[in-house]
Amino acid sequence: MFTARSLASVASYSSASVARQMSSASKKVAVLGAAGGIGQPLSMLLKLSPAIGELACYDIVGTPGVAADLSHIPTRARVSGCLPAAGAWPPRGNEGLGEALTGADVVVIPAGVPRKPGMTRDDLFNTNAGIVKTLIQGVAEFCPEAVIAIISNPVNSTVPIAAEILKQKGVYNPRKLCGVTTFDVIRANTFAAAHMGVDPASVDVTVIGGHAGITILPLYSQLEGFAPSDAEREAITVRTQFGGDEVVQAKAGSGSATLSMAYAGYLFTEKVLQGLNGEKVTQCAYVQSDLTDCKYFASPCEFGPNGVEKVLGYGTLSAYEQAWFDKMIPDLQKQIKKGEDFVNA
Ligand code: NAD
Ligand code: LMR
Repeated sequence: MFTARSLASVASYSSASVARQMSSASKKVAVLGAAGGIGQPLSMLLKLSPAIGELACYDIVGTPGVAADLSHIPTRARVSGCLPAAGAWPPRGNEGLGEALTGADVVVIPAGVPRKPGMTRDDLFNTNAGIVKTLIQGVAEFCPEAVIAIISNPVNSTVPIAAEILKQKGVYNPRKLCGVTTFDVIRANTFAAAHMGVDPASVDVTVIGGHAGITILPLYSQLEGFAPSDAEREAITVRTQFGGDEVVQAKAGSGSATLSMAYAGYLFTEKVLQGLNGEKVTQCAYVQSDLTDCKYFASPCEFGPNGVEKVLGYGTLSAYEQAWFDKMIPDLQKQIKKGEDFVNA
């Protein structure tokens, strides 16, 4: 039986039998923005993960309900729902954020506003930059060792914002900070598989650059068995770059992709957890990188016990891809600088 008081700030549900099943390999994952369009299905998928012993759902609204709901799924992860407790008296400041973050091994951040038709991801900067800044200050205080996975747009700028905040706090570790670009990979896999008439599970496209428009560069030339005409290659490349707009338009003002993003965020987090648990796994991520003239760049990375163990190369580009690459670099550099300036100016 839960009282209103116990649900007000931090709601935690567990059972002795679940606790007994937890092994030392179980990790704590915190989702910040857990009551949102992405946050809720992402939290549900994470609740199903055997690798997770504790799932902390943090948001400025709604998380006691999300956590109570998820807690009825019979899997091992204990779920807590945390709120900032900002309205409490005496003031409790960021107590709820601290509760969510303390002991977290991975922090996934889908907090922030989504696009409406006609907007670019950069149009979200003014609102989301501040949200990410506040949440990363919390990470720096409560779980500086955690791997951070940023979903909040514009990812090309929110990752540099996070890096600058962590540097200010003296806890920046480039191996632990990632922008999630898995959505671009799963879109590319979906579109290529449909074109080839094969099972999408058999396709793995490398997508490099960033996560906005032309900064998204799928390397279809490296996909074995994929031989589109020039017009088809152009169409599928542009569709991958602007796949987000397709969903924003279809949702007609009620937001952007949530369900497919939740799946992408879940896939990303699972691989990070596999790495933390000692496996070597490779996936694309937007990380600090010296592969190009951009300080942050998405490419295949090897994940392991320390987060990003190696930033891997992305192979040879076709002439078609090289032309997109050349266009992308100045754009991405600008978006990175915008994030850095937000913190340092
Ligand atoms: P949403 O509005 O449905 O949910 C956002 C949630 O963030 C809300 O529950 C809100 O209360 C919460 N929030 C706001 N400020 C907060 C704060 N300070 N602390 C904690 N929580 C806070 O939006 P959504 O559709 O879930 O999208 C969230 C973000 O993810 C957007 O910026 C969107 O552009 C981005 N996104 C990124 C990708 C990607 O591939 N990286 C894909 C889809 C969406
Ligand atoms: C996406 O790629 O779907 C997300 O980044 C959301 C958006 O604004 O397009």
